[in-house]
Amino acid sequence: MNHDEMIRHARQVLSDNDRGTYTVPTHGLYPFQWNWDSALSALGFAHYDEPRAWLEIETLLAHQWDDGMVPHIIFHQPDDGYFPGPDVWSTGREVPTTGITQPAVAGFAVRRIFDRARDRALAEEKARAMLPKIHAWHRWFYRCRDPQGTGLVAIVHPWESGRDNSADWDAAFERVPTEGVGSFTRRDTSHANPAHRPTDEQYKRYIWLVQKFRSLGWDTSKMHDASPFLVVDPGFNAILIRACEDTADLAARLGMEEIAAESRAMAEKGIEALETLWHEPLGQYVCYDRAIGAPIESPSVGGILTAFAPIPHHRAAALVRRIETLAKSCNYLIPSHDPTHAAFDGPCYWRGPVWLIVNYMVADGLARAGQGEIVPRIIGDCLRLIETSGFAEYHDPITAEPCGGPHFTWTAAMVIEILNTCEMAA
Ligand code: GLC
Repeated sequence: MNHDEMIRHARQVLSDNDRGTYTVPTHGLYPFQWNWDSALSALGFAHYDEPRAWLEIETLLAHQWDDGMVPHIIFHQPDDGYFPGPDVWSTGREVPTTGITQPAVAGFAVRRIFDRARDRALAEEKARAMLPKIHAWHRWFYRCRDPQGTGLVAIVHPWESGRDNSADWDAAFERVPTEGVGSFTRRDTSHANPAHRPTDEQYKRYIWLVQKFRSLGWDTSKMHDASPFLVVDPGFNAILIRACEDTADLAARLGMEEIAAESRAMAEKGIEALETLWHEPLGQYVCYDRAIGAPIESPSVGGILTAFAPIPHHRAAALVRRIETLAKSCNYLIPSHDPTHAAFDGPCYWRGPVWLIVNYMVADGLARAGQGEIVPRIIGDCLRLIETSGFAEYHDPITAEPCGGPHFTWTAAMVIEILNTCEMAA
């Protein structure tokens, strides 16, 4: 496939998954709108249809809760192909949503689409309308997920991280009970190979947490202290910090001074706090289990995704060395878990496979930090994977096997973004 063919194919994936005002990640496995999928997929649309790109994020933000949270799934239309559906979440919204969130990448996406927009008037109109909403979401994060004011937010459910079944959560997840979880039928394993998906035991715990939060009436100010699962994820925080930084920059340019100042302050505090997650022996950042007050020494890509935030230069350089080490034990960068570690599982979801969105964010951050030499390798591996195995949800970093769902929206969007962004595809 040459680059033009790849782009044509990728656009076809986006168009097949387009439901008019939002995209689904892939038909069947994920039949609704997902939060960070939409924000990143908008980057793909922006290269050939700016109004459609803005609309994708606009639809997402239209379902923001009054407290500021932007939910992780919006169940626009009934579909019994997914579990747990709206009846399990029972959040009482007119258009049903889940009651947890996902990585706050929308602020980054808005700024990037704004910067490149050919229709300047439209971009300014959309950014002006969206920034206060995005800012309210960021404020919600620091208010409800960092009640002690540490500068770092915690997730209360593995699904919030976007890295659903990462080995990072294993030990902390053991503390989530399974009592009282009734029987249920999973739907994911009928759309994708069960070996690529989480276990039934993990699913029971996912549901236990949903039931717990439901019993709190979805009061998001209570969830942090009530959750037995409370983890500070460096990648998740890095995305939020980057989004605050981008919001600050864009707000300043649009004369939205208050948003700019508050966003800048949140980003600065976050960057300083991120340093506490650095793990010298592993040479990367690691998660922190806030429920027991201990680091989680798990070598996952969550600690490398921190490159997306404006971390100090010597840390970015160290992350490059870390990626070079990982490259010795796989054929395609960046594995979501260290292939030499016991928990690594090449084709299983977030326990080994390569995800294009992660590669993109890491590459973007390293390029900004002046560590761009490794970028062609990271981006080149994305394109080799697509050429070999198509627009899969994720790929085995050793064999390139396409895994999870096929015909995947954000995978396709990343290909369009990469191929249109000469500094990356070079
Ligand atoms: C899986 C991924 C998550 C993504 C969702 C929809 O749950 O782990 O990050 O948002 O699928 O693609």
